[in-house]
Amino acid sequence: MTGNIDKNILTYGQFINGEWHASKESFSVANKFTGEEFAIIGKATREEVEQAVTNAEETFRTKKLSPNERYEILMRTAEIVKERKEELALILVREVGKVLKDARGEIDRGIQTLIASAEEAKRIAGSGVPLGQPGNENKLAFTVRVPVGVVAAITPFNFPFNLTVHKLGPAIAAGNTVVLKPAELTPVIACVLAEIFIEAGLPAGFLNVVNGFGQETGQYLLEEDRIAHFTFTGSPGVGRHIKSTTGIRPVTLELGNNSPNIVHHDAPDLDKAAELCVTRGYSNAGQACISVQRVYVHEDVYESFLEKAVKAAQSLKVGNPEDPETDIGPMITEKEAKRAEEWIKEAEEHGARVVFGGKRTGSILEPAILSDVKPEMKVVCQEVFAPVINIIPYSEIQDAFDQANDSRFGLQAGLFTSNIQLAMRAAHELHFGGVIINDVSTYRADVMPYGGVKDSGIGKEGPRYAIQEMTDEKIIVINL
Ligand code: SIN
Repeated sequence: MTGNIDKNILTYGQFINGEWHASKESFSVANKFTGEEFAIIGKATREEVEQAVTNAEETFRTKKLSPNERYEILMRTAEIVKERKEELALILVREVGKVLKDARGEIDRGIQTLIASAEEAKRIAGSGVPLGQPGNENKLAFTVRVPVGVVAAITPFNFPFNLTVHKLGPAIAAGNTVVLKPAELTPVIACVLAEIFIEAGLPAGFLNVVNGFGQETGQYLLEEDRIAHFTFTGSPGVGRHIKSTTGIRPVTLELGNNSPNIVHHDAPDLDKAAELCVTRGYSNAGQACISVQRVYVHEDVYESFLEKAVKAAQSLKVGNPEDPETDIGPMITEKEAKRAEEWIKEAEEHGARVVFGGKRTGSILEPAILSDVKPEMKVVCQEVFAPVINIIPYSEIQDAFDQANDSRFGLQAGLFTSNIQLAMRAAHELHFGGVIINDVSTYRADVMPYGGVKDSGIGKEGPRYAIQEMTDEKIIVINL
């Protein structure tokens, strides 16, 4: 059961102990632009999920990879991905609807995430523990970091390559075994990645893949008490369900955001700020947790910024993601595009102005710029996850900070200013996992700690930080 991008329809089943297994039932994966069938994927039964977990658990108990072996495997995986970059990018174009330039960018980022994971594999260390209190004489103490065991990785549709690598890379670097459940809308790239890991020398059993739907296959995983750590990227609702189901076991949850970006009157380059807010609000059709969504612009530069933003939006090409010139492709499903369109209409009915775009054809939503919005409108207060940005004026910076913080989310925020004091104040006052100065909330370097506060989640990604999440710190005490 394996696929080839040159064949018409790819087929994958369950990847257990280094081999593909066919399942009785299957589901279809569509090309998100043409709507044609792109792949047929086996739907794992509860027994198949159990087999995958058993295999991961036995592998963890019986096989070990040294840090250097993990380094070599991850580096070789990065090399193979580099060699197959165009083919992998094309899979993303077809199964996600991601435009070609973004798809290539995602593969490049995944390569860097693999390399960073490889490098971190050699740096996993505990620390010395001075036991200076009376009564502890003649004791030597230090900690070591040990792998947790079986990690369950549940990955999203929006960056199905790099966000999968963000879970597999650190888990393998740390010496864990993994059961991966890819998003049912975009499972193909993860299946190909599993094959690449094996080709790169990962022994069978370190990575198992189970396919199916979240409510079923994901739920089987949640009910498996042999899993030591769950790492999930997706919606806050599912994140909450995972947290409430997994008891005292640790979880890493990367959830939503309705990312605010503040453009102060002293922004160093207003043209650049407008261009960044627009392009990074619409990249991946706005389907990123850190997509620009709420743009608070100082009243002195508001009209000028709005004009520049509309001009930048007009220059973007919308359509076929396979065309190298296209900037914005389809959303993941027509249902999601309709949902975003309804949110825009609802805002319009309550007084918002659609300054640009917002029309829908099938699953393609024209990028939209809204003004005159109110805080309680869904396009503002919920995560829109679509190519929609709201441009909102303010007069006092404190008001902009307050509005930015007035959210149940807290992943990343951006601020444009030339004033270092204001930048430092924003870093202090904005209640987010990350504050980006003179770039947008969408900025992410894959080595940096990435994770939110409030409903945006728990724990951090970025290989070094994810390894901390996926290892236990064990204390060793020696009585001298
Ligand atoms: C996300 O949607 O959280 C990931 C965004 C990114 O990695 O650029």
